[in-house]
Order: sequence, then C-alpha cells, then structure tokens
Amino acid sequence: MGADLDGFAIVVEGLVKRYGRIVAVNGVSFRVGYGEVFGFLGPNGAGKTTTIHVLATLLRPDGGRVMVAGRDVVRDPVGVRRSIGVVFQDPSLDGELTGYENLYLHGRIYGLRGGLLEERIEEMLRFVELWEHRDRLVKYYSGGMRRRLEIARALLHRPRILFLDEPTLGLDPQTRAHIWDYIRKMHREMGVTVFLTTHYMEEAEALCDRIAIIDHGKIIAEGTPEELKRMAGNDIVYLKIRDVKPGVCGFFEDLALECRELPGGRIALKVGDAVKSLPGILLRARDKGLEVLEASYHRPSLNDVFLLLTGREIREEGPMDMIKAVVMSRRWRR
Ligand SMILES: Nc1ncnc2c1ncn2[C@@H]1O[C@H](COP(=O)(O)OP(=O)(O)OP(=O)(O)O)[C@@H](O)[C@H]1O
Ligand SMILES: [Mg+2]
Repeated sequence: MGADLDGFAIVVEGLVKRYGRIVAVNGVSFRVGYGEVFGFLGPNGAGKTTTIHVLATLLRPDGGRVMVAGRDVVRDPVGVRRSIGVVFQDPSLDGELTGYENLYLHGRIYGLRGGLLEERIEEMLRFVELWEHRDRLVKYYSGGMRRRLEIARALLHRPRILFLDEPTLGLDPQTRAHIWDYIRKMHREMGVTVFLTTHYMEEAEALCDRIAIIDHGKIIAEGTPEELKRMAGNDIVYLKIRDVKPGVCGFFEDLALECRELPGGRIALKVGDAVKSLPGILLRARDKGLEVLEASYHRPSLNDVFLLLTGREIREEGPMDMIKAVVMSRRWRR
C-alpha cells in the first residue's frame, strides 16, 4: 500500500474471514482517519466482532489486507497491539480482583511499572469516576461500572486507537447515555480514534462521525449519519387542519417537493429538511386562513435505511439482549 494511506488510523481492503464453511466477513473495505469516531452498525451475526478481532490481531484474516496505525496486522501484530486498546463484547475483567488490581495487572502486561503505572491507574480511574470504588471487588460492580472499568483499562497504555465492541450491550438507557459521555470525553480530551460496533441505531447516531452498515459480512452502506438518512428519502411534515377543503395542497406547492391530502383533515408535505421548512409552512397556513391543529414531522432513521437496503429491521433492544445481559451478570455472581 502506498504513501496515500499515511494518515489513516485503519485501512481495510477486501477483508475475508471464514470459520470453516461460514463466511463471517465477506470482502469488507473501509478506511478510518485519525481522530474519527467510526461505527460498524449491524444486526446479530453480521460480522462485527469478527472484524474487530481481526483488526485487533486476535484472528488472522483469510483474505485482504488490514493496516492499523500504519502497520500490517499479519506482519506486525506486536506493533499494532502497542497502538490499540480493546474493550471486548464479552466482559473480560477478573471479578475476584478489585478495580485497582484489574488495572494493575493489565498495566504490568503492557510493561508499565512503579510510579508511572500508579499514576496512570489513578488518572484513568478518576477519568471514569471509579477512583472511590477502586478497592471494591469487581464482582460487586454494576454493569455500567464494569464497562467504565474496561474502558479505563483499555486506555491505560495510552493507545492511539480504541476498539469498542458493543460498548453498551445490555445496559439500561440511562447507563448507556453515561457511557456515551465517557466515550465522547475520551475522544475529545485524549484525541483517541474510536472504532466501535453496535446494533443500537441511536448509539451509532449519537457517537459516530461516520458509520458503515454491515449485514451478512458485507458493508451495504457507508457515510455520515446524515448522508445515510438522506438515502432513505426526504423528511415528511404532517399538518392537521380544521375544516380542510380539497385542493389545500395548492397553497404549499412552492414550499414542498410534494403534498398529499390524507384522511382525517391531515396533509403530508415532503420536504428536504423538516426543521428548516416548518416555520415557512406554518406561516403560509396562517396567511391562507388555515387553522393548524397539529404539526409534526418524520425524519428517516437509520432503521429506515437498513429496511430500504435489506427489507428487514435492525433489531432493536430485544430478547437476545436480555439473555446476554443475564448471562453476563451470572458470570459474575457465580
Ligand atoms: N468461533 C466461531 N466459530 C464459528 N462461527 C462463528 C464463530 N464466531 C462467529 N461465528 C459466526 O460468524 C458470523 C459473524 O459473527 P460475529 O460474532 O462476527 O457477528 P456480530 O456482528 O458480532 O454479531 P453480534 O451482534 O451477535 O455480536 C455469525 O454467523 C456467527 O455465527
Ligand atoms: Mg458481536
């Protein structure tokens, strides 16, 4: 690969990974620039974890090329490992150790020791607001605390690139939002490049500069959240109007791409950007003597994009999450 690839944190070209006959990743290509938050969004079994494991040098690719931090994952896995931190989908902390001890062990594995190690541990535990809980056994931590500890651990050796595999899987919405704050803060304050996987659309939208949607081992769409949503079409503004007369759409011809009269005194206006168009539409309604009883709009979601491309929904929080969450918590309480 040539010099044009300098400056990319991650370069993946035609990655293939098989488990026996199963093709888990089937010719995936993408690039992530330094400082970006890049998301892999896809349903169960799409190939997200497999991809992260290849990028993190835990699995050997069967085809294609993968460069992380300027190094080839096959030829220089040790070099890659020095530049990355990983938070795995399945918890990998030792529940019988304290939070502090978990970080200490990890730091030693990375060759940190003495005063430097102690400094880093304190810095990271304070960063994720676990310093006060440092001497508690991890098996008594909540799910959100464990996730934060894992993030702190992954950052201990100051990696340039952080991989997060389903960082908020099975957590309640409030805890999830809390973890998002740490990811944003870490990205902002430490300039870490983030590659994360998720099947939560809101998570991808809330955190990522760019998203690749992955399904059955292939990337089916890639772009900023806004670009992706634009693929699914326009925004729709709905108005409910008192005593609406046929032909009402004529009043809005120049303001909307399309207008349709719906049953129940409602009209639907197709527009480029609902938030920008709405004031003009309401003013026009008033000028034409229409009494607007309700106004609302629908903006395509990433789910609409997925639906459009695959005919299926990206699974929202469902029974599998619950099962995974229960399995995870059992593992700890054994
Ligand atoms: N060790 C393995 N042996 C055999 N097949 C595997 C193995 N790991 C994963 N697979 C299969 O490879 C495919 C991709 O799995 P992967 O775990 O990468 O998906 P994922 O997108 O991370 O899914 P999830 O959202 O459930 O975590 C699936 O069909 C899965 O069943
Ligand atoms: Mg996975």
